[in-house]
Amino acid sequence: MEKFECNRRIFMGGAAMLGGIAAVRPDRAIAHDQCGPGPIPDPALGSTKVRRNIFSLDPSGPEIQSLRQGVAAMKARPVDDPTSWLFQANIHGTVDNPPQGMPAELSSTWSTCEHSSYFFLSWHRIYLFFFERILRDASGDADFALPYWNYEIPGQRVLPLPLREPADTSNPLFVSQRRTFGPNINGGEPVPVQVTSSSEAMRTTFFGSPTVFGLTWQLEMQPHNVMHGVIGGSGWMSDPRFAARDPVFWLHHANIDRLWSVWNAQGGGREDPVNDAIWMDTTFAFFDETGAKVEMSGSDVLNTADQLDYRYDDEPEPEIGLVLVGGGDGAETSAAGSTELAAPATESGITLGASPIDIGLAAQVDGTEAFTTNAASPAAQPVLLELGMIDYAEPSGHWYEIYINLPEGAEPETLSAYYAGNASFFAQSRTLRENMNMKGEHQPVRLDITGLLNRQIQEGLWDGGEIVVQFRPNGLETATESMPVDQQISIGSIRIVRQ
Ligand code: C2O
Repeated sequence: MEKFECNRRIFMGGAAMLGGIAAVRPDRAIAHDQCGPGPIPDPALGSTKVRRNIFSLDPSGPEIQSLRQGVAAMKARPVDDPTSWLFQANIHGTVDNPPQGMPAELSSTWSTCEHSSYFFLSWHRIYLFFFERILRDASGDADFALPYWNYEIPGQRVLPLPLREPADTSNPLFVSQRRTFGPNINGGEPVPVQVTSSSEAMRTTFFGSPTVFGLTWQLEMQPHNVMHGVIGGSGWMSDPRFAARDPVFWLHHANIDRLWSVWNAQGGGREDPVNDAIWMDTTFAFFDETGAKVEMSGSDVLNTADQLDYRYDDEPEPEIGLVLVGGGDGAETSAAGSTELAAPATESGITLGASPIDIGLAAQVDGTEAFTTNAASPAAQPVLLELGMIDYAEPSGHWYEIYINLPEGAEPETLSAYYAGNASFFAQSRTLRENMNMKGEHQPVRLDITGLLNRQIQEGLWDGGEIVVQFRPNGLETATESMPVDQQISIGSIRIVRQ
């Protein structure tokens, strides 16, 4: 593709799109403004900020001090200041009306978070990047970088101490609007290990397109959505319109952003959608630390060290002159027509509430052959459980464990051959989205069940015919059999497809 013959255009494109704002510093843009082999010395390299695991930082050390100071300073600013805490949170989502007299230039950026769209990762990377610049400026610490919370590490599944102590308003990182039961988040109880895992996401080798399953879809579901629900309960983090008011939002998203980088670094054909012009060039508006409006697109955020001046502490130091963007072989982006493998016998939707529910899906093909791994392209053609037309009126932080073909009377074990994963619907509600302004095409929730079905076939646990999908609620905040109708999840369509 002509556009990406040379990495120069990517970096210059990034600078140009910012309209003179030096997100890509001119000296760096020049350093990269060359084609051809050989390392290019980069005078600005030393300035790369490092986002660190918050558990590696001293809770009373200078980094956490800067974090507290920056958050407090942002919170003290009025909502019509784009560098204020509330304005920044409202960019994600809000139920508030803009104050009288706020120019549309500002208010039009509210409620623009991208969810269940393949801009999920790039939009949030840009959001964090400008938020971090504002926070750095507000903290007065020129080296400040956002820490991240890696809840996958054993022993680090509890909310980081600085966010819960002191547990009062003297602590700008504390909010009371967090889950209090199952687990008690501010009480320092660990989140369940099954909701923290990113291994499914890391295993995928395709980034994902609007129609094709891949990293972005899997990562959004878990750990992203599920962790929102686990942290938030009936409080802020479960609701896209309030989530970013909780300081933990930013640490959670720094981790999701890190996982995107980790995925890239794994290689094995993993590549961002550099050949997809819509993903690369669709711009999103934010504000920088001076309050000036800025725009960026996917092409500006492919390599954080080179384009955005930050990296994670578990990533290697950037190599000088590293050229990241290759591509051009057009690997993928098939306009997927998926094949339906199983669907309910009657076309009615389902409602998920406080009790487990079984849904029988009739196989549309004979035998098990069609459900097995496609040897030609196992990763490109996964078998997916697809949940479409999701709706609910009131977000709540519970999630559903999904089991497939669990025999009657068998214990639902997450280590068993029947456990398919978790579903949590953070921003998937059609009703909630009506008042939000996402650009991306919304897609159904999808869960890769290729491996599970293959194992069941091999072990003789399923031999074709009906497939029973069981949804088991988890993370309910009250031990009750009933759930307010508002919080029940209606699912318009459920089926199993081969992509
Ligand atoms: Cu846009 Cu984790 O949310």
